[in-house]
Amino acid sequence: MALILLLALVREAFKCTGWMMSSEAEISALNQIGFASQFVDPDVETVVRTFHQHCFSCAGSTLENRVSTPYLTLEDLMSAEAKETRFSHISKILDGSSIPSQSTISRWPSMTSGRPSPIPFQTIASIMGSAVGSDGIGRRPYPSGGALYSAEMVLVFGDTIEGVPAFSVGHYLPVTNRFELLPGRFDRAKFDAISSIKGVSFYIAYFVNLKKATFKYRSRGYRLALLEIGSIYQKIIGAAQEDGLASRVLAGFSEYEFTKDCGLDSRLLLPAVIHAFGYQEGAYV
Ligand SMILES: Cc1cc2nc3c(=O)[nH]c(=O)nc-3n(C[C@H](O)[C@H](O)[C@H](O)COP(=O)(O)O)c2cc1C
Repeated sequence: MALILLLALVREAFKCTGWMMSSEAEISALNQIGFASQFVDPDVETVVRTFHQHCFSCAGSTLENRVSTPYLTLEDLMSAEAKETRFSHISKILDGSSIPSQSTISRWPSMTSGRPSPIPFQTIASIMGSAVGSDGIGRRPYPSGGALYSAEMVLVFGDTIEGVPAFSVGHYLPVTNRFELLPGRFDRAKFDAISSIKGVSFYIAYFVNLKKATFKYRSRGYRLALLEIGSIYQKIIGAAQEDGLASRVLAGFSEYEFTKDCGLDSRLLLPAVIHAFGYQEGAYV
């Protein structure tokens, strides 16, 4: 009895110092995939996996060109870019407030080519903390369906990041604001092959945590997770830009290979997009 009382007192004391918060967050991190898995309907899992699989190829991709005769030319595809869409040509139109010109858009153009230069790990850590780290009660700076936060952020560092091993991989833990190092397998050649963008300093990959996304909302949870990823990368783009870093979101990458090289299981973590970062060659700042 005395021992139970003592344990309860120790627990309360740790709660006051904040130790318990980080410890509870860790325990939930360890258990959440296993916990959520128990409630995942196998039919839902099949539907989501199959759909994710179907998202592999797009019009104009090299895969499509290899397996079929493309029905859209490059010119056709380009003519669809940067247009707005009216739903009807007989609807009435109201003018919006005046926006002077394209130059007022605060987001920089997507990075086309990077200039390799040293970046302290602390710069990246502060971008992550300010853009997506949570407050003391676990609220994050972006919304999430059911507050499940089923999108995971994994960073792949190049060899110019000071303070981390070259080509290492880290999983960001937004509640405790730490990075969990993963058994990644990148080297110079693998890192350069991630995308065709030259001079990338590091990547952030956004994964849907399959079990977490689907145990409550079923297939709809996959949709919610993708929406969450969109708001995450928008926040990170803004924070990185403040530190002079340009970026480009990339949907074209080798999903299985990349996930495996990150040291992750592609049956549990479905990569949605990757995000390349670096100092834009010749411009922006
Ligand atoms: C979800 C998503 C996927 C994208 N995938 C690619 C890609 O695979 N390759 C690429 O070069 N750019 C990719 N982009 C970047 C877009 O092409 C770019 O944002 C668009 O052309 C507009 O240019 P801007 O960002 O400079 O305004 C992607 C952007 C988003 C949001």
